[in-house]
Amino acid sequence: EEQIRLLLNSTAEGIYSTDQAGICTLCNPAALEMLGYQSEDEVIGKNMHELIHYSHLDGSALTQEECQIKNAISKMQAAYSADEVFWKADGSWFYVEYRAHPVVKEGEIVGSVVTFHDITEQKLLHQQSIRTAQLASLGELAAGVAHEINNPINGVINYAQILLNRLQNSNIDTDLADRIIKEGERIATIVRDLLFFARESGPEVRLANVDDLLAEALSLTEAQIRKEGISLQIDAAGDLPQVYTRAQQIQQLFLNVLSNARHALNEKYPERDDRKKIEIFIDVAEKRKKQFVRVSIKDYGCGIPGKMLEKVMTPFVTTKPAGVGTGLGLSISHEIVNNHKGEFEIKSREGKWTEVVVILPAVEKDEDE
Ligand SMILES: Nc1ncnc2c1ncn2[C@@H]1O[C@H](COP(=O)(O)OP(=O)(O)OP(=O)(O)O)[C@@H](O)[C@H]1O
Ligand SMILES: [Mg+2]
Repeated sequence: EEQIRLLLNSTAEGIYSTDQAGICTLCNPAALEMLGYQSEDEVIGKNMHELIHYSHLDGSALTQEECQIKNAISKMQAAYSADEVFWKADGSWFYVEYRAHPVVKEGEIVGSVVTFHDITEQKLLHQQSIRTAQLASLGELAAGVAHEINNPINGVINYAQILLNRLQNSNIDTDLADRIIKEGERIATIVRDLLFFARESGPEVRLANVDDLLAEALSLTEAQIRKEGISLQIDAAGDLPQVYTRAQQIQQLFLNVLSNARHALNEKYPERDDRKKIEIFIDVAEKRKKQFVRVSIKDYGCGIPGKMLEKVMTPFVTTKPAGVGTGLGLSISHEIVNNHKGEFEIKSREGKWTEVVVILPAVEKDEDE
């Protein structure tokens, strides 16, 4: 008995058992920890299905009938799953890998035993590697197409420019030539954006202050921001650590995010309005004992609907009309942050606000001396 207790207490695998009705009869410390409970008393005597396994990740109900753990008892069938979630005490979830076995005593089923562990990290890594593969194939395609388009489009722009010069000396309207140049430049920009995914190594890495990079990005767009009647509030903590960056990329990232913020504010308030504002916070965050510089850029514009939010970092996903957006801004930004071994997160409340949080690994104090 004591041996078994010791074993249950020491293993990292979560283990619990239930009686025939699915009521918890035992739960080891690893299971309690993963599920976010303080003591066994909070779990024992509870219906485990209703406590931790009541719904799918998307929130739809997981009924007792479709529950494989229940089936372990009712159908005397061992079950295995690695694509479901367990719900924690605080209402959050984790991806779980579990096995459920019927417990048989003298030929009769008396309950079930479930062993499980948290596989969230593996799942997320897997999703990330799928994304990386997608981007790699996009990169190959982009490099090919972009090369083929680059030369002719520059030809088109140059010829239109010659035409424009000639027209300017006559008194024929230059409008059409102007438009050819403008549209041509739009194509050239898209091609350049696409090439970002194909580039293997970017510009030089150097030590920089993130707040300086932000200031440089702002200097490029501040005039527009002011013209549109948007107020900008920047709050930077003092004495921020430096970050190893490809500075141009970080600036591009800020420009992408600011451009989205401006667009969202102009969408919500086509006219001037006091509520048209962007807030920027920069401070230091600590994660896994390491320092990061965190930049939060929040706009109080139109926000992003929940369904859309999951997709906004996918290349070519856009809600903007052709010519206004290509749907590359956020996927490029995400890629830039990944290249810097940082984290990129976007949160939003539809109709109210959108916040982009960028975390970049900082140089530790003793490292830069
Ligand atoms: N701050 C924001 N507020 C509201 N919606 C946003 C915001 N940022 C992004 N979005 C939504 O996410 C979509 C994708 O953004 P992303 O920057 O990747 O592409 P885009 O802005 O549409 O085009 P591009 O950046 O290539 O010009 C946008 O079309 C918009 O619907
Ligand atoms: Mg954009």
